[in-house]
Amino acid sequence: MKFLITAGPTREPIDPVRFLSNRSSGKMGYALAAAAVEAGHTVVLVSGPVVLETPPGVKLHRVETAQQMFEVVKSICESTDAPDISIHAAAVADYRPKSAASQKIKKLEDSLELELERTQDVLGAMRTEFGFRGFLAGFAAETENVMANAQEKLRRKDCDLVIANDVGRNDSGFDSDENEVILCFPSGPVEPLPKQSKRTLAREIIRRIVALAEKKLR
Ligand code: CTP
Repeated sequence: MKFLITAGPTREPIDPVRFLSNRSSGKMGYALAAAAVEAGHTVVLVSGPVVLETPPGVKLHRVETAQQMFEVVKSICESTDAPDISIHAAAVADYRPKSAASQKIKKLEDSLELELERTQDVLGAMRTEFGFRGFLAGFAAETENVMANAQEKLRRKDCDLVIANDVGRNDSGFDSDENEVILCFPSGPVEPLPKQSKRTLAREIIRRIVALAEKKLR
């Protein structure tokens, strides 16, 4: 099967030396990419800035901003080599500075207001704009009401699976080597997976996604 995986944070420029970003390390997305290659699949990874090594056999597209991630994913989905499975593990910025200053902002005032505008939703555009018909999986990073928010995202973004994690806890989720997630399916059932290393969790998620995708796509 052909996988498309997004990973890492995005960076939204404020001026030439500053940006808005988040705590995503990219570890979960990279572990998924490595696990999919290990299982014999083809993987294109679209990644924001991370300090991780690219897993062998993965085709990497590096991006910085949400807009760049949106455009690269769009062109991959609209190519003749469109993926069968798309997993969105990236922590894409939801807002970016409305205009990035062309020169470094000097500290002239006691306070400074940044005006932000919405970025485009990469996962949300998969079905509606990019015409993706394969198996679609997203992540839901939540600090409260994990299940309810995950189910809402699943429906809103027309996913086949949402992998929910509670990023408010400091022992799993962002920047950790371990993760504890709950799989949420469109028909309603949910399945918690025990806390484990992102490597073993990634293998388990890939195994399940491939089985579900084979059913959906045959
Ligand atoms: N996502 C995306 N593009 C965005 C924002 C999110 O592709 N601009 C994807 C993420 O990769 C993830 C899923 O959408 O798979 C959910 O991301 P999350 O940050 O949990 O939710 P949001 O849709 O941003 O909603 P909210 O911030 O209101 O929780």
